[in-house]
Amino acid sequence: MERPTRSLVSTEDLSDADLRAVVARGVDHAAGRVARSLPLTGDVVGIYFRKTSTRTRTAFSAGALRLGAQIVTFGPDDLQTNTGETVGDTGRVLARMLDVIVARTAGPQRELADWAGQRRMAVVNAMTAEEHPTQALTDLTTMARHFGRVEGLRVCYLGEGNNTAAALASVLPRFGGVALELRTPPGYGLTEEVRARAEANAARSGASFTERHDMDELPSGVDVIYTTRWQTTGTSKPRPDWRQVFAPFQVTPKMWVDSPTAVFMHDLPAHRGEEVTAEVLDGPASLALDQAENKMHSAMAVLEWCRHVLP
Ligand code: CP
Repeated sequence: MERPTRSLVSTEDLSDADLRAVVARGVDHAAGRVARSLPLTGDVVGIYFRKTSTRTRTAFSAGALRLGAQIVTFGPDDLQTNTGETVGDTGRVLARMLDVIVARTAGPQRELADWAGQRRMAVVNAMTAEEHPTQALTDLTTMARHFGRVEGLRVCYLGEGNNTAAALASVLPRFGGVALELRTPPGYGLTEEVRARAEANAARSGASFTERHDMDELPSGVDVIYTTRWQTTGTSKPRPDWRQVFAPFQVTPKMWVDSPTAVFMHDLPAHRGEEVTAEVLDGPASLALDQAENKMHSAMAVLEWCRHVLP
């Protein structure tokens, strides 16, 4: 309990130097360049998932164990919040016993921001309604691992402006020369706050950021074509015609005509035949499984950052 902590509730909690250090460390873990020194020995990491997860939950559980920590897991029905204890009281109690909590609420981010107000326990956002910051770190790790850099990459994101898109749009324009273009269905774009953040980050770093709501004149020669599933975890779409609105945004092999060397990225889980064809997801350009594996390497870097193993 003596070691200081820092929380990752939003990508905004990471300075530019932190961001680059966490990504570089994730790449080093993936490449087997980090000696097994078990730096989190003696730590107890809580794994609290109020919503389903395959990758993020396993990545942080396995990552914490590989770093020498022990874990305590909580499912959606386990805590007394279900019987009326406040979220605030729950966080204050957990902070007296845990060193880190990795939490997926899929609810409002202010719950985790409130938890992070104390300094005893680090809080890691494993997905809120607003943002999925550990996914963005995984994505940057995957790009850095594949291309050897993030700077200068041309990325085209197709699909909903959901929490994964929000995190990606927040971090990618912090790298100079990046060109990020989002094509989001009308009515399902980024929030104004995220757009403003992406534009400000791009202006500061020399990157470019655009968002459109159509599929005309897609950018050519991109390095990465990225999508996410249409039914984001913990959400539903009230409009009955939403599938018609999303249909033109499906990723198909046609997109490789103008970007023949592009890789395909998907945060998974995927629905073949909805946001992407099976031919693309299972094809030679797809990094989706590497991206899933990188969740664990990136999670280890995040845990090390939270516990100041990383400077
Ligand atoms: N991409 C992602 O967050 O996967 P899980 O929902 O399985 O954790």
